[in-house]
Amino acid sequence: MTDRVTYHGKSAKGEDMTTGHHNYASLSRHAFEQPERFWGGVAERLNWTRKWDQVVGEGQGPIPRWFGGGQINACYNCVDRHVEQGFGEDTALIYESPVTGTSRQLSFRELRDATARLGGAMRQQGVTLGDRVLIYMPNSPEAVIAMLACARIGAIHSVVFGGFAARELAARIDDATPKLILAASCGIEGAKILPYQPILDEACTISAHQPDGTIYWQREQHQADLTGARAMDWVTELAAAEPVACEPVDATHPLYILYTSGTTGQPKGIVRDTGGYLVALSWTMEGLYNCPPGETYWAASDVGWVVGHSYIVYGPLLNRNATVIFEGKPVGTPDAGIFWQIMAKHKVRSFFTAPTAIRAIKQVDPDGDLAAGEDLSALQAVYLAGERTDPSTLEWIEILLGKPVVDHWWQTETGWAICGNPLGVEPLPVKPGSTSVPMPGWQIECLDEQGNPVAANETGAIVARLPLPPGAAPTLWNAEERYVEAYLERYAGYYLSGDAGFIDEDGFVYVMTRTDDVINVAGHRLSSSAMEEVLAANPAVAECAVVGVHDELKGQIPAGFVVLKAGVGATVEELCAELVQDVRREIGPVAAFKRVHLVSKLPKTRSGKILRRNIRQIADGEEPKVPATIEDLSVLDEYLQLFEKREEKS
Ligand code: COA
Ligand code: AMP
Repeated sequence: MTDRVTYHGKSAKGEDMTTGHHNYASLSRHAFEQPERFWGGVAERLNWTRKWDQVVGEGQGPIPRWFGGGQINACYNCVDRHVEQGFGEDTALIYESPVTGTSRQLSFRELRDATARLGGAMRQQGVTLGDRVLIYMPNSPEAVIAMLACARIGAIHSVVFGGFAARELAARIDDATPKLILAASCGIEGAKILPYQPILDEACTISAHQPDGTIYWQREQHQADLTGARAMDWVTELAAAEPVACEPVDATHPLYILYTSGTTGQPKGIVRDTGGYLVALSWTMEGLYNCPPGETYWAASDVGWVVGHSYIVYGPLLNRNATVIFEGKPVGTPDAGIFWQIMAKHKVRSFFTAPTAIRAIKQVDPDGDLAAGEDLSALQAVYLAGERTDPSTLEWIEILLGKPVVDHWWQTETGWAICGNPLGVEPLPVKPGSTSVPMPGWQIECLDEQGNPVAANETGAIVARLPLPPGAAPTLWNAEERYVEAYLERYAGYYLSGDAGFIDEDGFVYVMTRTDDVINVAGHRLSSSAMEEVLAANPAVAECAVVGVHDELKGQIPAGFVVLKAGVGATVEELCAELVQDVRREIGPVAAFKRVHLVSKLPKTRSGKILRRNIRQIADGEEPKVPATIEDLSVLDEYLQLFEKREEKS
């Protein structure tokens, strides 16, 4: 291990290649004072079929429209133009799948040909501009081809993460009403093979909407049954299809819908526009990730999450980077050295993962022995997001690799980083626990309950002043009002992030906790309300609360607190096991719901609001900050005893 890195001053390059700025202050001032010139300048790097009338103009609601009047195609910019510019034989996709023993690469030309054929196959199925296509596939080149093929023909994709169960899938099918599904025959989770067809079939029996059909990418580990009228084979369909060209779409046309958890059980369909998103990602590839064209970029995430959309697929390909698609886990597939091996093998320059993955490696290989001997000289920096990076994890990985580590903050809604360390422009000092500074176009403030800015280092609700920069979601699918209600109504003129934290005297932002009932499990965002709905549906349950409690590995894990109805026959063990199964069946294994506590009462305010925060504080060993409106203070004694006992036992 080397010493902890401290880095001040300029990068070797010392200039943002996209905008020519040499330091963060001038970059952010330019984006703030002249957004049209700043973002218009970045947009010039992309290929537009029709130039925009206005860089930023009025939207339907308070969120602006970026590049209105312009026409562009995301697949063309990510793939075809690189082939046309002579880079067709360069590597676009690097697939590393330790769970199947596969290692494969696709060039930009191969990627273009595959998307052109799949686009043609979808057209044959009647998919046209604006139709939705649901994608249910694991991390694989086929998933990337599926997303880009949709973009190619102007269809709007909606990728659903494999760890969600049929009911969650059905909710997304009913909301997005896809015409077609593109699926894999199975996913592979460590040693487990998970057939996808039964989950899709069950989802379609639950959903009111019925897609016209499903094209299955058949994997050798498990095959889907294609005898039914609506199931088709990927290879056969592609072979029979006519390749299609890229169809220009309006800059404001939705590129995709990505569902994320909100404060209710109904997931929110985050809508991403095409032009603004591509422009924002284009800036980040060099300004933030410092990854020039031709270099290798790796986001060890999943195409089912926003990080996968932005940084496995669109960002790197747009910038002509080779992108690594990893199907496996940071540990156990086969061991905790897999990240370092892949980085060395492919000379990865910029690496992005979730802090929980680093914690998992640290648990198994605390001295980082498995990194020794791997040539990581190409690696310039590590980027962490998805949850707060605790300072000890930051320090461990910094010392192990001797490279800059950037904790950056973003959300499914924003599509790219709100705050980060702009290494491609000017590396700023690292302050452990902070997500650095606002990225260009983001004006971040911390407000108190009344909407007044709080002083430096004081905690408040973190908000972004409107208008939001390009790339941020302009609306929710089918739910414009919910968008306004969830993000814009709380503080006039601001976007409510749902996170709380503080800004220090140097303008560095610290994101500490959610202010709503969203919990973050292993970098995955989950709704406690959705889990409560499942528990409450069990006939034995009178009432319940789910809170995210601290977990050494996953950051948080959900814990259920359940009050039973009188006269329940089952034993405590049977009942707890049943409730765990209920959540797994209804929401999916990704919820990692494994902890149930039976209690006699839930703490509430006099108006009946459950005091989840107090339960969490007690479970995490913190002093509960009890509101004056609590109905019965003595209810908390049971919780204090419960966790005192647990601590004594451990
Ligand atoms: N399809 C089906 N099931 C899935 C799945 C998928 N795509 N992804 C996860 N699951 C299942 C797992 O098999 C597991 O099921 P189990 O209860 O039967 O064991 C459950 O969902 C929880 O999975 P996971 O959160 O991955 O936990 P884990 O214990 O298997 O692994 C970590 C722990 C820390 C290694 C893992 O969470 C990890 O790699 N985290 C990084 C997260 C990340 O990259 N986030 C993206 C944001 S940048
Ligand atoms: P998601 O929409 O799934 O990407 O989750 C977004 C949420 O994850 C944010 O609102 C934060 O609560 C949390 N989050 C993401 N990145 C960070 C970070 N770097 N630091 C703290 N919290 C983060």
